[in-house]
Order: sequence, then structure tokens, then C-alpha cells
Amino acid sequence: MAGDILNRFEEDQTEEKKVGTDKKLRVGIIGTGWIAEAHIAKYKNMADVEIVAGADLIPGKAEAFFERYGVPNVKCFESHTDMLNSVELDAVSVCTYNATHAECTIDSLNKGVNVMLEKPMCVTVEEAVEIIRAERKSGKILSIGFQPRFDPNMKKIKEIVDSGALGDIYYIQTGGGRRRGIPTPYGTSFIAKETGGIGALGDIGCYSLDMVLNAIGYPKPLTVSGYTSDFFGKRPETYKNHPEYAEAFGVDDFAAAFVRLEGGIILDFRIAWAMNIDTPGDTIILGTEGGLRIPSTDCWNGSVGGAMKIYHEVAGSQVETEIPIIKTDIDLFEAKLRSFLDAIKEGGTAPIPSSEILYNQAIIDGIGKSAAVGREIEIDIPEI
Ligand SMILES: NC(=O)c1ccc[n+]([C@@H]2O[C@H](COP(=O)([O-])OP(=O)(O)OC[C@H]3O[C@@H](n4cnc5c(N)ncnc54)[C@H](O)[C@@H]3O)[C@@H](O)[C@H]2O)c1
Repeated sequence: MAGDILNRFEEDQTEEKKVGTDKKLRVGIIGTGWIAEAHIAKYKNMADVEIVAGADLIPGKAEAFFERYGVPNVKCFESHTDMLNSVELDAVSVCTYNATHAECTIDSLNKGVNVMLEKPMCVTVEEAVEIIRAERKSGKILSIGFQPRFDPNMKKIKEIVDSGALGDIYYIQTGGGRRRGIPTPYGTSFIAKETGGIGALGDIGCYSLDMVLNAIGYPKPLTVSGYTSDFFGKRPETYKNHPEYAEAFGVDDFAAAFVRLEGGIILDFRIAWAMNIDTPGDTIILGTEGGLRIPSTDCWNGSVGGAMKIYHEVAGSQVETEIPIIKTDIDLFEAKLRSFLDAIKEGGTAPIPSSEILYNQAIIDGIGKSAAVGREIEIDIPEI
């Protein structure tokens, strides 16, 4: 029986999709900072993409960015609305810091432009609802940038749950984090409240949440008891060459929560940009027929930390089935952009839909709200 279970998890050979180059998609980039580099590097190599416009609030930043990447004739702006009003676009990548995700996405959708929105979706659940309202009104495609979804090992988690091997899921423990790793690659955009909006919780917590919630079909979150702290972010010694960043730190560097999901499922979650331990533990998914252990993972890189194991019972014996790591050369970032562009060209649906990520955002938002009042709260998602 263990063999049968293993066979069910053999990798599918998926055919490579052909990309028509007859119509070039006119693409713009909003926010030309760090992650925009990954977007332009992939778009540049796509035969059916023409990068025609870019915007960044910082004067000259967009121009320098496109010049650095050797992309000529790109119209550059200091305001995303000027860009949207001046250039005909099929799609934009919203690569701004979290606090401006909502306005840039809503304005683009209102102009009839398809949007690839970087993660996390936004800062608050109210913003997420406004984004989805704009999306529905526009009829355009909005995909949220969770590239680990395209990793075959991550897909395997969902396949295992869907196979029924675990039975009914009732408890999940997930999260992760870094011993030290508060992101300040180019300044304070991740750690200042006005730009980052949320800290570790949104930045990397959203990935851990997506890994498990996607696997179980994104049930609605009902209540949350959340905790957040900022012990490391507020210390000048955390930032070797920039002690002044401690002053700017206005978000969480650690968060934990106990969340009740529809269907009687419990989600036990913790995430850290910094903590005095190497890992807060493996991800475990407990079901009535089996338990799955996913070794502690840098899930933001789309990786599991080692072979996963299913713990189950066979003929009265407690046995374990190892799920071998699937070796892959899939470029996750390219896959996320390609799937978005294909959906536009083929009239498909969003590869990573906002309807799912709404619940991800609602949990993040709920953790912050519960932490602020110091008790469990109901998760309130406004009507869309
Ligand atoms: N998918 C991934 O692997 C990944 C990795 C890193 C960051 N991110 C996400 O990407 C986003 C950006 O991160 P980053 O590291 O590039 O930040 P960054 O601070 O380096 O760049 C953001 C840029 O957006 C610009 N900007 C902000 N609001 C704007 C607006 N309204 N119009 C035009 N420009 C605007 C800023 O001036 C800045 O240049 C964040 O939400 C982050 O979570 C995703």
C-alpha cells in the first residue's frame, strides 16, 4: 500500500506551452526598485513582450533602471497615474513597496490594464477588498506574485492533500523565519510603517500561509488570536552600518497566531525576520488518516527543506512514506510572469487569484488587529 501511495505522487511530465509572438503585449513597470529587476530580467527575454513604460516616485530612478537593463525607448514617469494616462498598456507589474500596492493596482485596473501584483497583496483587508472590487468591475486579470506556487515540491503538498492520503485535515502548524534577516537591501522601505505597512508577517508570513492554505483549498478564516513584536527591529545594533534604521522601524519583526478556519481547521502560525532560534519548526499538516511533515522551509524561495514525510497506518502498523524531493530547473519567477501573460493572451483566469489571497490578507490583517487589542477577534471581511 505504501508503494501505491508513493506511485500516486510521481511527477507529471507537463508539456511546454507554445508562446505566440504575433501580438506583442505592451508592458509597464510601476516601482523600479529591487524586485522590479527580476521582472525586467524575465520580460526582456520574452519574445511576445514589449516593455514600453515605467514609473517610480523617485526622480530619474525609472530612467536609470531601464538604461541599466539596456531596454530602449521606454517612456518614464514619476507618477503611475501619469503613466497610465499617457501610454496604452496591456499589462503592468506593480513592484512598489506594500503601502502603495492597492492604489497602483486599483488605478491600473480602472484603466483597463491587467495587473501582476507583487506579494503581499497589500497591507489591510479593506484594501484587498477594494482591489477585488476594481478587478471585478474591470474584467481584467489580476494575479498575485507568489512564485513558490510554481515549484513542483510546493505543488506536491496540495497533491498529497487532494489525494486523500491525509484524510480530513484538522490542524496545521506553519511559519518559519530567519535567525537574523530584517530586510534593508536599499534602505527602509520594508521596515518603515509608511512604506512597508506590515513587517515579517506580510513579507514572508504571506508565503507560509499560502503554502498551506493553497494546499487545503483556502478555507475562510473565522477568528484569530494574534501577537506581534519588534524587539530586534528597534535595536540600533541590528543594523551594522545604519543604526538610525532602528528609529525608522515601525512594523513587526515577529508574529504568532492561532487561527480558526472554516471546516473546523486550526492554523498555528509563527514567522520571524529575527529571533533567538534557528527555526520555529517544521510545517505539519495533521489529518484523520495521515500526517504530513514538511521540513522547515525557506518557502519564500519556493523550496521545502528536505524530503517530506507522510505518517500513516498500514495494516495496524505505524509507517512513514517519504516523498522524494523533485529536482527541477523551473525558473519560478519566469513561470509566474509567463502564466499571467498567457492568461491575458488566452482569455484565461488569473493563475494566482485574488479571491484566494484575500483570505491570506485577512489573516495577516487579523493578526495585527488582534495583537493591537490583545485578545482573539473575529475576522471581518467586508462584502465585495
Ligand atoms: N516575489 C518576490 O520574491 C519578492 C522579493 C522581494 C520583494 N518583493 C515585493 O516587491 C515589492 C517591492 O519590493 P522592493 O524590494 O522592490 O522595494 P524597493 O523599495 O526596492 O522598491 C520599491 C519602489 O517602488 C517605488 N514606488 C513606491 N510607490 C510608488 C508609486 N505609487 N508609483 C511609482 N513608484 C512607486 C519606490 O520609489 C521604490 O523605488 C514589495 O511589496 C515586496 O514585498 C517580492
